[in-house]
Amino acid sequence: MAAPPLMLDAGTRAELWRKLTEAIETYAAKLENSRVTPPLDPAKLRASLARFDFSAPVGAFDAFDFLVEGLWKYQTHTPHPRYYGLFNPAPTTMGIAGDALAAAFNPQLAAWSHSPLAIEIEQHLVRAFGARFGYDPARTDGTFASGGMEANHTAVLTALVQKFPEFSSRGLRALAAQPVLYVSTEAHHSLLKAARLCGLGTDAVHEIPAGGDLRMDAEALASGIARDRAQGFAPFLVVSTAGTTSAGAIDPLPAIAEVAEREELWLHVDAAWGGAAALVPELRPLLEGIERADSITFDAHKWLSVPMGAGVYITRHVDILKTTFSIAQTYMPREAAGLDVIDPYTHSMQWSRRAIGLKVFLSLAVAGWEGYATAIRHMVAMGALLREQLEASGWQVVNKTPLPVCCFVDQRHAEGRSEDYLHKIAMQVVGSGKAWISTTRLAGSMPVLRACITNYRTNADDIAALVGALEEARTALNV
Ligand SMILES: Cc1ncc(COP(=O)(O)O)c(C=O)c1O
Repeated sequence: MAAPPLMLDAGTRAELWRKLTEAIETYAAKLENSRVTPPLDPAKLRASLARFDFSAPVGAFDAFDFLVEGLWKYQTHTPHPRYYGLFNPAPTTMGIAGDALAAAFNPQLAAWSHSPLAIEIEQHLVRAFGARFGYDPARTDGTFASGGMEANHTAVLTALVQKFPEFSSRGLRALAAQPVLYVSTEAHHSLLKAARLCGLGTDAVHEIPAGGDLRMDAEALASGIARDRAQGFAPFLVVSTAGTTSAGAIDPLPAIAEVAEREELWLHVDAAWGGAAALVPELRPLLEGIERADSITFDAHKWLSVPMGAGVYITRHVDILKTTFSIAQTYMPREAAGLDVIDPYTHSMQWSRRAIGLKVFLSLAVAGWEGYATAIRHMVAMGALLREQLEASGWQVVNKTPLPVCCFVDQRHAEGRSEDYLHKIAMQVVGSGKAWISTTRLAGSMPVLRACITNYRTNADDIAALVGALEEARTALNV
């Protein structure tokens, strides 16, 4: 009998899997010899897609080769060791295998009885990560999410529900006062989006100025809360950041926890990137106080280097996810009724959901805590080397952080602090294909170049290549 059209015959499948593993292995082995950045030509790209009008099927290998060649050509290669960007790492080998298994076995993470292993793996990981942050594993709950955005959104929702129980059924209009939350000026913008998605509106996000060290000022937080209460607002949540996106600053968590506890506000720590410091004994003290957080965002697809997307929301309030997300229905599977288990759809934003935890599980099982500590230590060392080499080449590194992200300006050029000049330098580097860096602004006003070590494969030669590409860019702009 012929195979159904959506399932290729055994011979074709065997050849396809061979080509697939070859493509994955070639990408891993040869990527470092390729350009980091693609040509940006939407017209050409769209023209290449025009032949796929889907009126007649194309061959499996034809379509597959098109995609592999296209991905090589049209992608900023975030897994490249000279991608110094936005926490997009090279995926772990075991993470790639885990994601492939998730696609093939396709566990459905809505009801426990459908995917007992995948669901228990995720809960096991949530408790394991919670323990690294100092939570009591017996009093830890959480959920995997698409990424930091969804985890932060979950945090805002759970805090709202905990502080204003009537919000769940009657919405914001049931509240007598406008709820407000606090972030530092350096916090990730996903919090603004989360406020919008929760119906709070972005005006409900009150920014507390970061000090010169780019960390949230706990005293300014306390006086902001007092001022808002006097004006009739209803403060409910403080979000502090452990590893800001631009500069890797870690808010003073104990001082902020102090304020949040005194004011009876939910404390959420966005440790999407920096949270991985908890895996390295000598870096763990940087996160002191995180155990006092009501909830934590931690992204495995950042410093744990698993394929996108793998966020985790962790909380020490074991009932809050159920209170926030549980919806009664009759059509979902009920075989597990009476067992001491959690149906994820009652417990998180998504309903049907991909098994996110498999790639994290395989990566952590095979590397172990020690393997991750070694990888993170290496990246921190590469960050220190980059800082040193930038300073030696006339760039001034302006952020102070133990994490491997450098924000810098040009000391050798009269315009070396101007946004326009720094943007041109970044574009020159990106355009050369030799590395990817970016620009950002610190404290809302100070333009800087930004280079972050996000890849466990980045080595001293790659650092030298970046510093060389920056020198070439400077020369090109100064002639
Ligand atoms: C501190 C921080 N929080 C949240 C996010 C959002 O995470 P994601 O892109 O996974 O949604 C980021 C992204 O870089 C981040 O740096």
